[in-house]
Amino acid sequence: TVGKSTNIKWQDCSVGKIDRQRLLKQKGCVIWITGLSGSGKSTVACALSQFLHHRGKMCYILDGDNVRHGLNRDLGFKAEDRAENIRRIGEVAKLFADAGVICIASLISPYRRDRDACRALLPDGDFIEVFMDVPLQVCEARDSKGLYKLARAGKIKGFTGIDDPYEQPLNCEIVLEHKGGDGASPCVMAEKVVSYLEEKGYLE
Ligand code: PPS
Repeated sequence: TVGKSTNIKWQDCSVGKIDRQRLLKQKGCVIWITGLSGSGKSTVACALSQFLHHRGKMCYILDGDNVRHGLNRDLGFKAEDRAENIRRIGEVAKLFADAGVICIASLISPYRRDRDACRALLPDGDFIEVFMDVPLQVCEARDSKGLYKLARAGKIKGFTGIDDPYEQPLNCEIVLEHKGGDGASPCVMAEKVVSYLEEKGYLE
């Protein structure tokens, strides 16, 4: 939607993002973790947060499930509601990145156009899309919240992967693959993201 506010003017301040980044000794960015329910988004987000925190890096997790308890409590799971959920989280993530924080957004975000709109909010390179490449069968077998069972029984309508779409990224920065058996551990996956951040200079 186009903004409805009129007669507004951007206010600048002499203390900016670069100053805050210098203070924090890191670069603000958004790590956007997308994938099916049960693919391990929140677990990887948490492992990543632990690694970064212990290295003295300031990060903050915006988890879809959690933000839906507050800011996005008015939204459901229809495509328009998901789009608005993602738009708001994208805008909040942008503010965190501007604050110099490494913001980890972890939400299904099933539509490519919604993720791309969030990417477009940030300077080039600062939106790092991470795809949890875990097959539906694996997520469904885990069914840690029992939601797939309810969806299969028709008790939840429009469940991602069952009777609602998931569009996987075509060109994301990082793919975290499930490698059969027990799969790669969340720690190994989080380490891969840390290496990427290191390589791109976000941790200095
Ligand atoms: S979205 O699509 O990005 O707006 O979703 P998100 O904010 O990440 O919320 C997903 C969590 O909501 C629960 N849930 C559902 N998921 C998918 N489809 C339907 N219909 C649905 N209803 C409830 C579920 O616990 C999701 O959590 P995760 O962590 O992904 O398992």
